[in-house]
Amino acid sequence: MSINIRWKYALSLVLFACALLTVSACSEEARPVKGFVLPEGDIAQGEQVFIDFNCHVCHTIPDVDFPAVEFTPPFVVPIGGEVYRVKNYGELLTAVVNPDHIISPKYIAMLERADREVIISPMPYYGEEMTVAELIDLVEFLHSNYTRLQPQYYRGYYLTK
Ligand code: HEC
Repeated sequence: MSINIRWKYALSLVLFACALLTVSACSEEARPVKGFVLPEGDIAQGEQVFIDFNCHVCHTIPDVDFPAVEFTPPFVVPIGGEVYRVKNYGELLTAVVNPDHIISPKYIAMLERADREVIISPMPYYGEEMTVAELIDLVEFLHSNYTRLQPQYYRGYYLTK
């Protein structure tokens, strides 16, 4: 009898663990990629891809001049520049191929200031038109436009700019 109860107990524990796993697997919609390595891209070509795909209509990059645009969207999101944490290559690649995965906090702040709700990213999906070579160059170009700022410390205090 007592063995039976122990078995039931063990079984319910196993079932509970399985349920937990299932729930976490479901909520983890994205598939993180380990061992995903792309070859080095060409920064100058990447800048051209940025222009060819009209990324400059919705984005500015400090110190990079782009051709004038006819239409300016209500929210222009600056990318690149001096930041305390450089967006890593994988994050930039994800931002391009899967824009809805993480909506940029900068953009959310802009919309909140304008009393608008954020639901999806207005960024188009480029998977159909962009070649892999273009994507590699583009992400290399984006990555090259981030500079990491060193935090300044003063007598143990952390100073932000
Ligand atoms: C129609 C406007 C629009 C176009 C065109 C567009 N984007 Fe975006 N992009 C956005 C908006 C708005 C965001 C912020 C919301 C989000 O995170 O998706 C964003 C976010 C990003 C981010 C993440 C920025 C951050 O700080 O998290 C990157 C990188 C980016 N875009 C690159 C590109 C590239 C490269 C192209 C061209 C291939 C492009 N975008 C085209 C509107 C656009």
